[in-house]
Amino acid sequence: MKIAFFDSGLGGLSVLHLALKRLKNEEFLYYADKDNVPYGLKSREEILNFTTKSVEFLIKQGAKAVVIACNTATSVAINELRAKFNIPIIGMEPAVKKAIDLQQEIPDENDLRVLLISTPVTAVGKKLKDLIGRVDTNHLVDVLPLPKLVEFAEKEEFASIDVLEYLNSELLKFNLTNYSSIVLGCTHFNYFKDTLRRILPSNIKILDGNEGTVNKLISELEGLNLIENNKQSVEFFYSSKQVSSGSEITKLKRYLKRLDEMIDIA
Ligand code: DGL
Repeated sequence: MKIAFFDSGLGGLSVLHLALKRLKNEEFLYYADKDNVPYGLKSREEILNFTTKSVEFLIKQGAKAVVIACNTATSVAINELRAKFNIPIIGMEPAVKKAIDLQQEIPDENDLRVLLISTPVTAVGKKLKDLIGRVDTNHLVDVLPLPKLVEFAEKEEFASIDVLEYLNSELLKFNLTNYSSIVLGCTHFNYFKDTLRRILPSNIKILDGNEGTVNKLISELEGLNLIENNKQSVEFFYSSKQVSSGSEITKLKRYLKRLDEMIDIA
């Protein structure tokens, strides 16, 4: 059986990319809901509906576990999905706790702030509020929605003048010398690590939640004895239609290659 990854678009490839490195003998499905991306500006009801239908589809394709490789869909739908489906459903959690723990280890950074960037839906969602309420006891986390980055990522535009201008104008609203880290609260944002690095002061760490999600996936699979020993493979779907065109597969490979270049930027 297969491990499925779901996202509104191509952001979730960043989580799949890490899973491919860690699980060498599994078969994967990747589902991008291309007909409905972006989710970050849609209603909660629409997002729940799209996500539920996609997970149903993936289970019919033989998924033994589904990773919701999308912070927005996790924020809206994870509880409902777990209640409805009888297989492991793993979600995303922005690395806020990691950011706070890291700065507590460095005395000079104790009173610095953490900037979390996400989609608008994630930014106002209860899930993020609860997480911040649990781990941010000194009220050091600020949240900034950056919806345009999702559009840029879907257009394969990661370092253009428009991207730089957008990021500069949004990030320079903050006095960045007061910050120790930036937390990527949207899987699409992993494509911009090099561009962010050009803008941010060098002491600011860039943190994503991908490792935590893949660790959770592996421990759930191990706990249920679901690890397999197959030849590694990936099948891609755009909103229930299998991707078969050579040029589209080549494009997906380019995205994965870009993620190779981003993986060590922190
Ligand atoms: N990749 C998604 C996330 O992690 C959502 C992007 C969108 O569709 O707005 O939040």
